[in-house]
Amino acid sequence: MRVLVVGSGGREHAFLWAIRRDLPDAQLWCAPGNAGTAQLATNLPVGADQLDQLVALADEHRIDLVIVGPEGPLAAGLADRLRARKIAVFGPSAAAAQIEASKAWAKDVMTAAGVPTAASMTFAELPGAYKYIDAHSEPLVVKASGLAAGKGAVVCATRAEAHVAARQMLGDGVFGEAGRVVVIESFLEGEELSLMALTNGRDTRILPGAQDHKRLIDGDRGPNTGGMGAYSPVSLETPALLEKVRRLVLEPTLAEMARRGAAFAGVLYAGLMVDAGGNPSVVEFNCRFGDPETQVILPRVTGGLLDALHASATGAPLPQLTVSSDAAVTTVLAARGYPDRPDKGAVITMPSSVPPGAVIFHAGTRRDDANRLIVNGGRVLAVTGIAGTFAAAQRVSREAAQGITFDGRQYRQDIGWREAARRT
Ligand code: AMP
Ligand code: GLY
Repeated sequence: MRVLVVGSGGREHAFLWAIRRDLPDAQLWCAPGNAGTAQLATNLPVGADQLDQLVALADEHRIDLVIVGPEGPLAAGLADRLRARKIAVFGPSAAAAQIEASKAWAKDVMTAAGVPTAASMTFAELPGAYKYIDAHSEPLVVKASGLAAGKGAVVCATRAEAHVAARQMLGDGVFGEAGRVVVIESFLEGEELSLMALTNGRDTRILPGAQDHKRLIDGDRGPNTGGMGAYSPVSLETPALLEKVRRLVLEPTLAEMARRGAAFAGVLYAGLMVDAGGNPSVVEFNCRFGDPETQVILPRVTGGLLDALHASATGAPLPQLTVSSDAAVTTVLAARGYPDRPDKGAVITMPSSVPPGAVIFHAGTRRDDANRLIVNGGRVLAVTGIAGTFAAAQRVSREAAQGITFDGRQYRQDIGWREAARRT
């Protein structure tokens, strides 16, 4: 099996790690990859947004399966381009990737399909947005409709703040093209849960759930980030909740997308808010695996992963997945200045040995000419602890993260605090 993984984050390192675990003989490439993926695959110096070159690489290396990590190339049509050349690709078409790339379109799909989500309206002009804000109760959430690297949603405690957010997006263009259309929606109370479903367009397999930690600082304070840590399983995720998500969210959304000529194949990521009564609402959809959720989900999927990705890519029946009862917790180490202006260039010191149960996934890392490991992005590493109990996985992740040092290192020491509180 010859596999090309597109992307350069911790998620992509985790794909390669899981494939190598399950299929030691697989031949692996990564474009562009990082210092961690280089240990498992051949890194190719082509960016995830260089579509022509990626298609040429897949041809050149006679790739059996391309796995696309990030949303950008999917929204730009990479999967369509590969399929047109009869190359199996895991990831949706550009039409289906709109479920993430256009929040306005996603809201429209949800409304048509009766999927539970916050009440909202879409605006391209400021006066209408102001009028809507004035007519609705606080708090409100103002969102850039397009792709904004996880920074496009502004939770506004007051109408005045919502006015500012709408003006920054529609008037000042702070998110550029992505913020030329905004979705304004009511605030949902509850606890967040990331549920990802693999689908080949017909059947779906819900993967183990995870909870992300979007805020930078312990206690869920500070600015929103791409994600500072995650854990799986989440005890919120009961069989009754999964049944509701399948019936009320996944099935109607996939059916409505197909009806619109945008049938989805790949992994549909539902970012959910679960209220006190155990009822899910959709906060957002993504058209790809979550980062850092993947770094706790794949260690728990111990059988069937690559077959399932291949089946999703080719439309074959999805195999059963084996899921381990172990818990996994991941702690992200970020660079100084993340998320606004991360500093690159610090030298990373790794511990001489990795504690049992810990796996270190690289994200923003590279090797310099002297083969030193160097910080090369905002999120630098994700350190996953895997153990028989949640508490042990949490401890392994935290202690292994502590053992890695670099100038300006930022990380949270409380990943999984909600789960720990639920368990005591
Ligand atoms: P999004 O980019 O839509 O995933 O939003 C980023 C984050 O903002 C989410 O993970 C939530 O923490 C928060 N958020 C977004 N929309 C809402 C909402 N309607 N109610 C409460 N929190 C929200
Ligand atoms: N961790 C959230 C995301 O991948 O969008």
